[in-house]
Amino acid sequence: MTSNTMWGGRFAAGPSAIMEEINASIGFDRKLAGQDIAGSKAHARMLADRGIISADDAAAILGGLDRVAQEIASGAFTFKAALEDIHMNVEARLSDVIGPAAGRLHTARSRNDQVATDVKLWVRDALDRLDDGLEALQAALIDQAEAGSDMVMPGFTHLQSAQPVTFGHHLMAYVEMVGRDRGRVADARRRLNECPLGAAALAGTSFPIDRDATAAALGFDRPTANSLDSVADRDFALEYLAAVSICSVHLSRLAEELVVWTSQPFGFVRLSDAFSTGSSIMPQKRNPDAAELVRAKTGRIVGHLIGLLTVMKGLPLTYQKDMQEDKEPLFDADASIGLAVAAMTGMIADLTPRPERMRAVASSGYATATDLADWLVRVVGLPFREAHHVTGRVVALAESKGADLDRLALADLQSVDDRITADVYSVLSVDASVASRTSYGGTAPVRVREAIAAARERYLR
Ligand code: ARG
Repeated sequence: MTSNTMWGGRFAAGPSAIMEEINASIGFDRKLAGQDIAGSKAHARMLADRGIISADDAAAILGGLDRVAQEIASGAFTFKAALEDIHMNVEARLSDVIGPAAGRLHTARSRNDQVATDVKLWVRDALDRLDDGLEALQAALIDQAEAGSDMVMPGFTHLQSAQPVTFGHHLMAYVEMVGRDRGRVADARRRLNECPLGAAALAGTSFPIDRDATAAALGFDRPTANSLDSVADRDFALEYLAAVSICSVHLSRLAEELVVWTSQPFGFVRLSDAFSTGSSIMPQKRNPDAAELVRAKTGRIVGHLIGLLTVMKGLPLTYQKDMQEDKEPLFDADASIGLAVAAMTGMIADLTPRPERMRAVASSGYATATDLADWLVRVVGLPFREAHHVTGRVVALAESKGADLDRLALADLQSVDDRITADVYSVLSVDASVASRTSYGGTAPVRVREAIAAARERYLR
């Protein structure tokens, strides 16, 4: 086998088959073709503007790169493993198309600053895609929250009925979580947006390049400040995977709620046929497979974060070939989170709440016990600890009678504490409980409707 046409000058023989196989990234980094060509065009224009290459050579390079882009878009391009990666595949084809002028494109550049630039451009697009998807998810959550702003459901701690809340309030909790996810996306994008191009192999270049020009042409805020860091840094990939990981944990928690809520013992919501699957053996089944798979995607996404952290750990400056392993986790995380967000948005928009079921469960389990204790504090003037104790005895009595708190007779209540009056019934219903939680951020329907208006203002375009 002959040596590599792109770097084989000092080699007498080509690589072994296994060397070629482990070395080649073209099987996956072909996804970076668009970014690679955009970076090369910005670089070629800058080289000509600075008089480093001739205007004619730059024109030939730009025209040739457009043609290569078309060939890739149309599927006519032949990717070659012998050319290792997308950078050398594009450049070799450029050379076929325009001849020797192609050899001038790599002046004052290295694959090291080239790949860092390409991957940054790709991650930047992925962040923007994710933000769009998350906004759509927030919109779906907010619409359901509005419809459910006074549907009473049990609020849980330890998955035990704790206090009544509203379905709208519960969904709005996820709007906040997704809002923080979008904040992480925005932070990551801001820190990412410095251009490595011009760092060359690692040390910078002796050519009089204009790094501000290439940075601006590619939509970066500024060039990176240190050439070594420029080619060795993959923080932006890690930050993307970290943001996606946290987001996927949120989606997984919501997915789990959907699994629980759609189960027969709960029955809080129903998913339509569009988001349910059947069983091949049990005809009655309606399985929430999409929710289960959203929950499961978290495993591979978090795995990608741990994987790339582990690749980067212990790498000395600067570029090491290990870093070629950054791409597949990024691509798979993007595909996985994209599907998960879209599926969750679809399920949230699709679901039908069953308020009568939620209310029935909220009304059992003594969920207004805290309201009784608060009443004893507010009206009778007991210290909270004592009120808690009295309420505990009322709950024990209700349990022994198999009745809910608001079904106990006044005489029964007074047998526990004779300071209790009929006024207490005004706080023992789930509606009264929910309506009373008017503190900022609380579950009272009036507060939830305010929160919905504020979220629309803050998050939706
Ligand atoms: N395919 C390589 C990667 O993805 C491109 C950079 C290669 N640079 C080098 N000096 N071998 O990281």
